[in-house]
Amino acid sequence: MRRYSRITGTGSYLPPRRLSNADLVAELAVSGVETSDDWIVERTGIRARHFAAVDVVCSDLATAAAKNALQAAGVDARDIDLIIVATSTPDMVFPSTACIVQHKLGAPGGAAFDVQAVCSGFVYALTIADAMIQTGAANKALVIGSEIFSRILDFKDRTTCVLFGDGAGAVVLEASKTPGILASDLHADGKHVGILCVPGHVSGGHITGDPLLKMDGQAVFKLAVGVLEDAARATLEKAGKTQADIDWLIPHQANIRIMQSTAKKLKLSMDKVIVTVDQHGNTSAASIPLALDAGVRAGKVKPGQLLMLEGVGGGFTWGAVLLNL
Ligand code: ACO
Repeated sequence: MRRYSRITGTGSYLPPRRLSNADLVAELAVSGVETSDDWIVERTGIRARHFAAVDVVCSDLATAAAKNALQAAGVDARDIDLIIVATSTPDMVFPSTACIVQHKLGAPGGAAFDVQAVCSGFVYALTIADAMIQTGAANKALVIGSEIFSRILDFKDRTTCVLFGDGAGAVVLEASKTPGILASDLHADGKHVGILCVPGHVSGGHITGDPLLKMDGQAVFKLAVGVLEDAARATLEKAGKTQADIDWLIPHQANIRIMQSTAKKLKLSMDKVIVTVDQHGNTSAASIPLALDAGVRAGKVKPGQLLMLEGVGGGFTWGAVLLNL
């Protein structure tokens, strides 16, 4: 009999330090960086973000989100045989954050590795976990997106530092006789590396190059809207569904205008889009599972509904996963 994978629990975690736009505007003003609540809200829809404390690392956020997801699924950590963490802000150069999370959870023995696809990381990781469950390589997986982007922001660059936040989201994905994940569609185009990157690296015990985030916002914006529509349509076609079948669009939370444009192109009302960018900012690979968990816990996203998850980000990478919850 064919094996499928299905999400059986969701969880998330936000570090307690919350900065409203007014808080951030005041902090930036101290170092002479001018911005305003009006500009941030009008251009992005962001009203607040969370920043992790200095002694907190990516695996701490990931572990907290994973515990919430395990509890929601009623699954014991010791039964997990696959952990994938999507992140661009890992604890260390190596080993993977997933191995550290595995140890913190007390879930030894299964496979554990990180996926690096920036803001598309969660849809990449979910697609890999689905494939491993379908082939029998895994039975119960934790798929986590976790980021501390505050560590790689240039707080002198107002065009980027107002956009991002820290957080983590997770799902438990289990083998199932009935399909949860129906189709996915992943892509990358490396010729756009330069429009969104953190170009520095560690070499000879030093950082070589610039270790802070660089982005050509307008180039990213234009590419994002087109590829998100294409990925959604390709995924629907693979699954034999149409956009009218979608109960919830849960896109990467980068900018409300990108979400509005994508919804419009797919002829979906914004009432069918889960929006958390206003409260979380852009949390990169964490944004989709954070939004999914927020939707589930608000009682909006329910079992049996058809969800379209979509990511887009540095690489340039993009992709979509269509699933029945
Ligand atoms: N506060 C006040 N003014 C600002 C700020 C700020 N924080 N930032 C820029 N400005 C100014 C600019 O200097 C410019 O001024 P000028 O006209 O005098 O030169 C003006 O505002 C307009 O700047 P634009 O860059 O044209 O603003 P735009 O409307 O394009 O919005 C934004 C910028 C929000 C970055 C937008 O382009 C965007 O959202 N792009 C997509 C980003 C994204 O989705 N990233 C996702 C992937 S993230 C990942 O993968 C890690």
